[in-house]
Amino acid sequence: MGYAARFSDLQLKERPIILGIESSCDETAAAVVRGREILSSVILSSASEQAKYGGVVPEIASRAHTDAISAAVERALAEANVSKNELDAVAVTYGAGLLGALLVGLSFAKSFAWALGVPLIAVDHIRGHMAAAYLADPALEPPFITLLASGGHTAVLYTKSYTEFEILGSTRDDAAGEAFDKAARVLGLPYPGGPNVEKLAREGKESIEFPKMFRGGGYDFSYSGLKTAVINYCHTKEQKGEPYSRADVAASFQAAACGALVGRAVAAAKEKNCRVIAAGGGVIANGYLRERLTNACGQSGIRAVLPEKRFCTDNAAMIAAEGLVQYRARNFVDLSLNACAHIPLGKKGKQ
Ligand code: KG4
Ligand code: ZN
Repeated sequence: MGYAARFSDLQLKERPIILGIESSCDETAAAVVRGREILSSVILSSASEQAKYGGVVPEIASRAHTDAISAAVERALAEANVSKNELDAVAVTYGAGLLGALLVGLSFAKSFAWALGVPLIAVDHIRGHMAAAYLADPALEPPFITLLASGGHTAVLYTKSYTEFEILGSTRDDAAGEAFDKAARVLGLPYPGGPNVEKLAREGKESIEFPKMFRGGGYDFSYSGLKTAVINYCHTKEQKGEPYSRADVAASFQAAACGALVGRAVAAAKEKNCRVIAAGGGVIANGYLRERLTNACGQSGIRAVLPEKRFCTDNAAMIAAEGLVQYRARNFVDLSLNACAHIPLGKKGKQ
């Protein structure tokens, strides 16, 4: 009998206590939630180590996870004031991400769940970002529009139910976060790019006309044109020896990048007659974007559900939140579960 089958008759709890574990990139994270209440969220990051190399070095990330995983879980339990025997399930990111990094969290989660005799739940990282909204608003129920903007994905989705969604539009090339990271590199800003572009943009004016129109119709995105425009602008100025304001470039880039996200999300909400837009992913931590989205929603009678900034970037509370969705669907997995480097957006949950 497979491990998951042990739980086929499990009496589901209304507000189970779920341990979430996340190790897909450079954050080793563990969190405990009870229902939709966050009891703790611990994030041990190797970002400062990675910054020396200008990006994430997979081997350094895997080693950092190995060093940090036990401490992260212990701290998450201690801060939640929950003993491990009180846990009802363990939810873990099985993909997408760096394979070696994922395997650290996954192996830990498998042995932890097995030792405690509780179900193991496999979470798609990106579904975790989308589920962070359920923690931000515990009363939130589908249907609603989801605006997803992370380092790897940019999409507008119609979330029909807790487990089904329709992709209305997605990026045809770079993701929004990737565009922020590339713009940061051109501007000579250190890793991680997004927050540093935001900081510099605060000192600048939106005075440069970067392309606001993106190729393709509907709700699709394309960030490569904007990225090229930023690169060309800076290089041309430098070749001609003309002075230019890096802060103005940052502010103008940010306005164009965020304008596309806000415009498409609001248009999709109107078309689908949805009164709620729930956002998720690292780029949603951007203060300028949050303000613009909140204002645009306010003008259209739409409610914006924005997770706190620390729950937009990688964390384990969002993994536990999606874990709760899968727990209610009795979607438990066997211990043979493997990590997955790529998971297409829209793939059904792991069985
Ligand atoms: O969701 P996330 O933490 O990881 C992925 O699953 O990809 O997103 C990381 C991305 C990076 O590209 C980072 O530059 C971007 O989110 N990001 C931001 C901000 N904070 C993180 N972009 C713009 N402004 C920010 N404040
Ligand atoms: Zn992420």
